[in-house]
Amino acid sequence: MGGMGLLEDRVAVVTGAGRGIGRAIAEVFASEGAMVAVVSRSLASCQAAADQINSRFAGKARAFAMDVADSGSTSVVGKEILEAYGKVDILVNNAGVTRDGLALRMSEEDWDVVLDTNLKGAFNCVKAFQRSLLKQPAARIINISSVVGLMGNAGQANYAASKAGLIGFTKALAREFSSRGVTVNAIAPGFITTDMTDVLTGEQKEAITRNIPLGKLGEPGDIAAAALFLAGGGASYITGQVLTVDGGMVM
Ligand SMILES: NC(=O)c1ccc[n+]([C@@H]2O[C@H](COP(=O)([O-])OP(=O)(O)OC[C@H]3O[C@@H](n4cnc5c(N)ncnc54)[C@H](O)[C@@H]3O)[C@@H](O)[C@H]2O)c1
Repeated sequence: MGGMGLLEDRVAVVTGAGRGIGRAIAEVFASEGAMVAVVSRSLASCQAAADQINSRFAGKARAFAMDVADSGSTSVVGKEILEAYGKVDILVNNAGVTRDGLALRMSEEDWDVVLDTNLKGAFNCVKAFQRSLLKQPAARIINISSVVGLMGNAGQANYAASKAGLIGFTKALAREFSSRGVTVNAIAPGFITTDMTDVLTGEQKEAITRNIPLGKLGEPGDIAAAALFLAGGGASYITGQVLTVDGGMVM
């Protein structure tokens, strides 16, 4: 089968791939021939996602339970992934959480959980795979940030800080890894229909939609398409960039 995919023979690690945007990225990568480590906190969730991907693209996906916020976990499971595949070409730091609330009342724990997962989680995963990534001829790191990291959002000081932090991390890494041909980019999704935005009321969604020039929320596939572009050969001269995929909300 195959030989024609954009990501043939490449190994990709996608964190937070049990559902939503991460699962869509894992699936589109598999559809283009990549071997995909489907990473999530719970084995049940990443195994279900991997099974679903394998039902369409046999043998392409494998589940690994890892807590990105825990450097012990990223180090141990990172080694398992490297042993399973022998290399990693593409790392997508997608795992993320929200703990919304006004800064005035935000607990230290809500700050820490969001920063530890969204920002330190990406650092932990880079540490786990950087040696292998730096050895590959055209490795890619793709960090899933957010428009909230660009424009802020009341009630999301922790989340906005983590997502803006990811952009700085992306640019610093892009400079450090450039001499080895590794590109490092971020995607800033707008409002995408997933479990994360499911908590919004119809009224909130309407208010959001009024500020989206293209007049609708995005789908996980919209972000997966951008990730595929950045992962592929066509994006080899792009590094340190933030690709906003938001229906025109931020421009
Ligand atoms: N949905 C949106 O509108 C939107 C907008 C901008 C950015 N994003 C970002 O996109 C990414 C994916 O969001 P989504 O909407 O698919 O969310 P989601 O809640 O549906 O999925 C998040 C995934 O991350 C995993 N995860 C959470 N903490 C983890 C940890 N410590 N270790 C490993 N995995 C962990 C969860 O298990 C889940 O599979 C997140 O980083 C999010 O911040 C989402």
